[in-house]
Amino acid sequence: MELPPLLRRNVDRALNGVGLADLAVAAAALSQRYRDEHRDHNLHVRTERDALAYLAVRLPATYAAVRASFAAVVAARLDFAPKTVLDVGAGPGTALWAAADCWPGLADALLLEASPIFRACGEELAREADLPRVSWQLADVAAATIDCAPRDLVSLAYVLNELAPAARESVLQRLWDATADTLVIVEPGTPAGWERILAARRQLIEAGAHVLAPCPHAFACPLQAPDWCHFAERVARSRLHRLAKGADVPWEDEKFSYVAVSRRPAAAAVARVIARPRKGSGRITLKLCQPDGSAGEDLFSRRNGTVFKRAWRSDWESAIDLETP
Ligand SMILES: C[S@@+](CC[C@H](N)C(=O)[O-])C[C@H]1O[C@@H](n2cnc3c(N)ncnc32)[C@H](O)[C@@H]1O
Repeated sequence: MELPPLLRRNVDRALNGVGLADLAVAAAALSQRYRDEHRDHNLHVRTERDALAYLAVRLPATYAAVRASFAAVVAARLDFAPKTVLDVGAGPGTALWAAADCWPGLADALLLEASPIFRACGEELAREADLPRVSWQLADVAAATIDCAPRDLVSLAYVLNELAPAARESVLQRLWDATADTLVIVEPGTPAGWERILAARRQLIEAGAHVLAPCPHAFACPLQAPDWCHFAERVARSRLHRLAKGADVPWEDEKFSYVAVSRRPAAAAVARVIARPRKGSGRITLKLCQPDGSAGEDLFSRRNGTVFKRAWRSDWESAIDLETP
């Protein structure tokens, strides 16, 4: 997945003239903090250099994950046309760009962010962009109430892992209270990220939420550790991105876990492909999460007729109707 052309241009403009050596050091330190899930009451992005490193090496990947999670909401709820959005832990405004790409009717965005550096960076990126009306709230979501009327779409992307475990439940409750329709939570696609998504999913179902995606049911997750539910998006790396990471290939796979819940149910629950399909000659094996709450591998061959064609066209993350002949 590529960034929208204007966002790509604005990111390149922000990075113009930044020394590669500096960027590589900041990017490596940032990646290490994220990998370690380092929590020391400090924000990971504390300097302008950290924010620029984030733009260079993390934004393309988090954008891809959030955009894919929103796409699953579009598929589950064709009637959903949000006008207002609240994004918490907005960083440089990643989810706003993804939401605007998915739902052109968005009119008003509130971005809550604790880091003034990220906020400045996000404002700069959005300059001259055809985005909804944007306002920023500089606040710590773990400490403050969210000061707005409920919004159609609420998102929390790559933030839960930065919150102290004891703060997560109350933050999620605040987010749900601020949700008029749909709430989307995205985390890194690691076993720990999946555990946080599972806990959020349980809490929100207990609060009355309907699960839109990726699960086609509200039963307990059928996967057992060491397995975990995650997806992957292939992300294009710019030249600077590659150089800052010392990488050879012009792409990377961003693994992510997510849950999208709503105050309204999905139109229909169909199976979800939860691993990369394995194709052979005239046959395909899909690992599926099913509407009855089970999960496992299924083999499809030409004998399955139309369902085989649908299976053949599916990919990791696809929702697939196996019932309609
Ligand atoms: C990994 S970044 C993700 C940024 C953006 N959502 C994205 O997906 O690219 C995490 C963001 O959450 C913000 N954050 C962390 N703790 C926060 C808190 N308690 N209140 C508000 N924002 C917070 C950080 O400053 C940072 O911008």
